[in-house]
Amino acid sequence: MNSPVDPTTTGAWAELSRLHGELTVDFRTWFADDPRRAETYTLTAGDLLVDLSKNYLTPVVRDALVRLGEQVGLEARRDAMFAGEHINTTEDRAVLHTALRRPAAESLVVDGEDVVRQVHEVLDREIAFADRVRSGEWTGVTGRPITTVINIGIGGSDLGPVMVYEALKPYKADGIECRYVSNIDPTDMYEKTKDVDPETVLFIVASKTFTTLETMTNARMAKNWLINSLENTGAIERTLAAREEATAKHFVAVSTALDRVAEFGIDPSNAFGFWNWVGGRYSVDSAVGLSDLIAVGPENWRALLDGFHTMDQHFAAAPLAENVPALMGLLNVFYSNFYGAQSHAVLPYSQYLHRFPAYLQQLTMESNGKSTRWDASPVVSQTGEVFWGEPGTNGQHAFYQLLHQGTRVVPSDFIGFANPAHALHESGNDVHALFMSNFFAQTKALAFGKTADEVRAEGCDEAIVPARVFSGNRPTTSILAPELSPRVLGELIALYEHITFTEGVVWGINSFDQWGVELGKKLALQIAPALGGDADALAAQDGSTRGLIENYLRLRRS
Ligand code: F6P
Repeated sequence: MNSPVDPTTTGAWAELSRLHGELTVDFRTWFADDPRRAETYTLTAGDLLVDLSKNYLTPVVRDALVRLGEQVGLEARRDAMFAGEHINTTEDRAVLHTALRRPAAESLVVDGEDVVRQVHEVLDREIAFADRVRSGEWTGVTGRPITTVINIGIGGSDLGPVMVYEALKPYKADGIECRYVSNIDPTDMYEKTKDVDPETVLFIVASKTFTTLETMTNARMAKNWLINSLENTGAIERTLAAREEATAKHFVAVSTALDRVAEFGIDPSNAFGFWNWVGGRYSVDSAVGLSDLIAVGPENWRALLDGFHTMDQHFAAAPLAENVPALMGLLNVFYSNFYGAQSHAVLPYSQYLHRFPAYLQQLTMESNGKSTRWDASPVVSQTGEVFWGEPGTNGQHAFYQLLHQGTRVVPSDFIGFANPAHALHESGNDVHALFMSNFFAQTKALAFGKTADEVRAEGCDEAIVPARVFSGNRPTTSILAPELSPRVLGELIALYEHITFTEGVVWGINSFDQWGVELGKKLALQIAPALGGDADALAAQDGSTRGLIENYLRLRRS
């Protein structure tokens, strides 16, 4: 295993450190002095136009960032990922989510298998299945077509599918609704099934491992609910054969562990596989997205995959100085390691993208929230960023105050679209134009602020002038696309996958394992008996945990 380069020993790091010390960020002057600044730092990748000009970029900073990428071996690591080398060192696996969107005519042999052929075999089966569900040819046990698809999964087996479903609602077929159950909180299942007709529901159990406690518990609950509901209404007989037939008609699975799928009682011919070289949080474009494929149909699904592939090609081929994911990732490192930025806001100006920040939280934080490098040595700098956000303009009335006048540097990505899915007017005004005016106004205000003299010129009482000053010089990236189409969504997701990868390479992190989620899972299993009255399990707990459990048991009504 090759060791990661220590980024702090590179010439580029020293240069960035010097630049950080010397640079006076002053967007007003930078834009005034260079009328072509916006043009210089506006790049395109696929359908995305990315304006980086309101970042702490100067020609020398950009050169130093590019050199940092070169000196840590970003391009070689990227190529190793695309080629299927085992860069997931702790699990000894290839990292090949990019193979999920390669065209069928290509081939990539990894560990003796043509992974592109495998991908397209499953994709073709998925598409055939989705077509049957969409056309009504696939029916429930009583012969009625499917109207509700409920995806049961968590983490990568939920956040991606639900985000895509919400984002592509304008492309959804009439007559089919998807719902998503993830939480082991039983109220999630209750709320998602309480008004569903058991004769027209299809459950998709999505789990890479098919062992995840939440998903397996919810899948069993769903099976019981389905059988009980069908039996209670007399839709099926109370026999084993009838129950098996109902399960076969109303349950399909998506997993890498097809043996466990069969053990659960789902017919393997109703299972769609993927591979251990797809990380959970990188899996939405595998069969994990089956609910989305059913909702939007094969043509839109293929457009989404094309969008992913377009961004992959850009990341694989564009020189670092023009490589959008690479530059955005390197800028994030600059803010995190030199400006002390701890969080990163993602602010989509599209209500359809309301789950995008949550999706990115898993993608980025499960990938790069680590203290150990890929050769098991400790990291040498701060790593990871806390990603968060909400759609604009809602966020403007909630947390933008801190972005504008707080003491912290919060690099923010604004994502907007020229064309709305639904163009609505109010009193003759184009409401989308009003909406997007807010996008442009916010990025402008964050960059250029408002001086004390400008505040005074408005006749403001001197005592409150300081409170009304905006310092400006707050970094933002503006991402603009023609519309939130399936293709553009694919480009956006792949953009953030590769930003995450770039940051991980600089920090020397294996962005593809997630050992940090294990401890809590194990402890929950040890604690559960204590809540069921096991005195020994209770006595084994630390004082705080024991006290909390005792209070829980006291407060619990039955
Ligand atoms: O616990 C974290 C995690 O392993 C995620 O990485 C993953 O996306 C999620 O759980 C769900 O895992 P699975 O798809 O195997 O059920």
